[in-house]
Amino acid sequence: MATIRLVQGDITSESADAIVNAANSSLLGGGGVDGAIHRRGGPAILAECRRLRETDYPAGLPTGQAVASTAGDLNARWVIHTVGPVWSQSEDRSALLASCYRESLRVAGELGASTVVFPAISTGVYGWPMDDGARIAIETVRSFAHVVEEVRFVLFDAHGYRAFETALS
Ligand code: APR
Repeated sequence: MATIRLVQGDITSESADAIVNAANSSLLGGGGVDGAIHRRGGPAILAECRRLRETDYPAGLPTGQAVASTAGDLNARWVIHTVGPVWSQSEDRSALLASCYRESLRVAGELGASTVVFPAISTGVYGWPMDDGARIAIETVRSFAHVVEEVRFVLFDAHGYRAFETALS
């Protein structure tokens, strides 16, 4: 059973086997976590993402799925890109958000990663309320974490950290 840890800070400063990126379907970068990972990780990540688009994902990575690339200059062996659902008032997309965590862990297990670092997927640009996003993250990781040794959530601010602390307790 994996240890679950919480950290407040910048995910690109973490050392781990795999760092999960809150990407978009294009896999070609963006803002937030995505922007930070490409900025800090360097061009090798984008080059590999382009190759993924040309081969396995011509239409882009579907929401809820996960795919690994090199971590470039980050202190990690892989970046696992996953695409969170955009928050919707009218439609319950919780299963898609849970799928991001589950599929990222599945990919990490297949790679042989023992430490995996997650951001709070969908809770930024994609507008998911932090408390609910934290609940889904913790619930999903708790039920699928047996494939790795440590799962670390890196929260950018105190609001996110507190939400995950509450979800953990
Ligand atoms: N380290 C850790 N957490 C971060 C960082 C960082 N460097 N930057 C932002 N965050 C936090 C945000 O505060 C938010 O709580 O990560 C969470 C996810 O926010 P986003 O990065 O905006 O990701 P998401 O909401 O999933 O939206 C994805 O945004 O950046 C674009 O290309 C990306 O289109 C995609 C969309």
